[in-house]
Amino acid sequence: MSIECTKTEDRTFLTLHTEKTTYQMMVDPHGALLHLYYGKRAMGTMEYLLIWRDRGFSGNPWDAGKDRTFSLDSLPQEYPTSGTGDFRATALTVEEDNGFEGCDLRYVSHEISDGKYGLPGLPAMHASESESQTLTVHLKDHVSGLEVDLLYGVLPELDIITRAAIIRNTGDHTLTLTKVLSADLDFLTGDYDVLTFCGRYGMERNLQRTPVDHGEFRILSRRGASSHQYNPLVILADHNTTEDTGECYAMEFVYSGSFQASVEKDQFDQVRLQMGLAESKFRYPLGPGETFAVPETILSFSGDGLEVLSQNLMDCVRLHICRRSSSLAHPVLLNSWEGCYFDFDGNTIRDMARQAKDLGVDLLVMDDGWFGNRNDDTTGLGDWQVNEEKLRGSLPALIADVHDLGLKFGIWFEPEMVSEDSDLFRAHPDWALASEDRRPIRSRYQLVLDFSRPDVVDQIFSDVCKVLDMGIDYIKWDFNRSIADVWSHAAQHQGTVLYNYILGLYSFLERLRERYPDLLIEGCSGGGGRFDAGMLYYTPQIWGSDNTDAVDRLKIQYGTSFGYPISVVGAHVSAVPNEQNGRITSLDVRGTVAMSGSFGFELDPATLSDEDRQTIQEQIAFFREFEPLIREGRYYRLSDPAKDPATAWLFVSRDRSIALLNIVTTETFCNMPNQYIRVRGLEPGAFYRSERNGHVYPADGLRNVGYPVPYEPGEYRAYQIVLRKVED
Ligand code: GLA
Repeated sequence: MSIECTKTEDRTFLTLHTEKTTYQMMVDPHGALLHLYYGKRAMGTMEYLLIWRDRGFSGNPWDAGKDRTFSLDSLPQEYPTSGTGDFRATALTVEEDNGFEGCDLRYVSHEISDGKYGLPGLPAMHASESESQTLTVHLKDHVSGLEVDLLYGVLPELDIITRAAIIRNTGDHTLTLTKVLSADLDFLTGDYDVLTFCGRYGMERNLQRTPVDHGEFRILSRRGASSHQYNPLVILADHNTTEDTGECYAMEFVYSGSFQASVEKDQFDQVRLQMGLAESKFRYPLGPGETFAVPETILSFSGDGLEVLSQNLMDCVRLHICRRSSSLAHPVLLNSWEGCYFDFDGNTIRDMARQAKDLGVDLLVMDDGWFGNRNDDTTGLGDWQVNEEKLRGSLPALIADVHDLGLKFGIWFEPEMVSEDSDLFRAHPDWALASEDRRPIRSRYQLVLDFSRPDVVDQIFSDVCKVLDMGIDYIKWDFNRSIADVWSHAAQHQGTVLYNYILGLYSFLERLRERYPDLLIEGCSGGGGRFDAGMLYYTPQIWGSDNTDAVDRLKIQYGTSFGYPISVVGAHVSAVPNEQNGRITSLDVRGTVAMSGSFGFELDPATLSDEDRQTIQEQIAFFREFEPLIREGRYYRLSDPAKDPATAWLFVSRDRSIALLNIVTTETFCNMPNQYIRVRGLEPGAFYRSERNGHVYPADGLRNVGYPVPYEPGEYRAYQIVLRKVED
């Protein structure tokens, strides 16, 4: 049993155990749900940790009577609300119809069940009855009638606990939710750093490590999507935690819209970590009888450093968020975008497909420009009708020719967008999100369709299906701007629009999945602007970044690896000089980096020299051999691309019999000191033979001192070293 309930006369303890961690809460004599513990697996109850002191200026609930030591301003809680005398950041803020802001949640009951809960209309971790359990804690504000069911999913094998909630108004008056978070963790002690994954278009998810001090540190997106700027993943680590030592906690939001995550060190040096919906532009009235589903957060704790934390998150996302069979390889693809941008016809695509076949590619993707009147990015979005004139023929004929070559056929869509210069917008100007009285904010010359409206979603779904019915195997689902005008012509309350928009998006994707079970969808948002566990539930791979430069990608893919599996990150080899930053790197470097992802190419194969063509054929053959190891093996970050002159990472099979060591050098200078990469993850005491040079290396030496980085003069060298365990 991973969930336990123990009771004393006036207290109830609820304890969640995973293989290596324990999480505990307590219902106190007042019915308050207090948080007691999260960390290494532990026995017993931790109530003794609470120290009762009269703290000045900390409010006491009325029913505490003369007990001035009972204050929610200093006690650790499970789901803090406003109006209870806790002056720290709350997880839930509710406004009553008289304007009073408050909600006093008290314990009513709880249930424990086998299996993992699901959430209506929202993505959530899935797991079988034998591998997971659910705890539901029913709380109620007896004055307003607001009920909250806190949901906890436990996946013991991966040390994962999920949190979500269902909020219900059982009262007679409308209650307005103005802040709804998904998870809250209160810590009584600790000296922490917070790790966040920040960036911008073309440079997403760069690791930032910031000491936690007094005040509130917050990352967020107000853009209607999880964003390039901040990823909805946050790690709280002991100040001394490294890759393989020390304690750390993760919160990963399973949601694709505006979010916020924060860390607050309070007046008593206690720390509160939170994740949930962004407050910005959120104001959700809940009428009598109505419910609201709070999206899920994945939590994990590691007492053995960041690598174990990441490995558990990676397995959780790959096996329990993504729904495509985990035993399927991601196809090697050639995408037309950087090869020809908008400038193509059907024969360009046929030529690309023929050459792709020769290289060993599985899937040809026709990117933007095949529909409506679309020859640049100023027009046509929303008109999902095939431009046969541009293709010089029908799409089914083109698909048939590509299929005849033995390749799958993929196509680009941006279903949530509309160009002002489109038939769709001319017919339905009110379908775009924009104020009635003002001109809309443009971005990439496009507006955002109002996906909070089921009628809009239905129409676009039907238009998209007409194309998919022609025999499409793969979609690249793009989203190329942030939502600036949050105003729906159909909404009664504009504060509901961004959340309902995401429900509309998810419902569209779910319907696609039902109708086309074998269709592979790759998420994209100007690269990695909506790279989150919510999208991965529907789109089991996501284009990592529009930046295809291998050296910049080292940082992007390194940051991404803290919370997401390697195999879901779209990564392509493109031409040099790189189109985004002008850098020149060898095909070796580009291939090595792109193979640590869902591998592909994004160039015009007609421009390749014979030598490059052969190198690519060899790369694809190498990738096919090691793809199961890259997808299913354990991943180790061996150096930090922002600091170290060589970036290295390793995949090791679960039985540790084979490993693939990847090294890319990013710095060179005269008479360089020797460099060694410490290789973690191999079997202690074992020996490994390198297929590169035949040497046999002791795993202990590789771990304790390192693998000598080959020295060859010149910038940017890549090495892929296969290490096989020597059996005797
Ligand atoms: C976005 C994507 C690119 C490409 C273009 C097409 O920027 O990230 O990969 O598909 O749109 O317009």
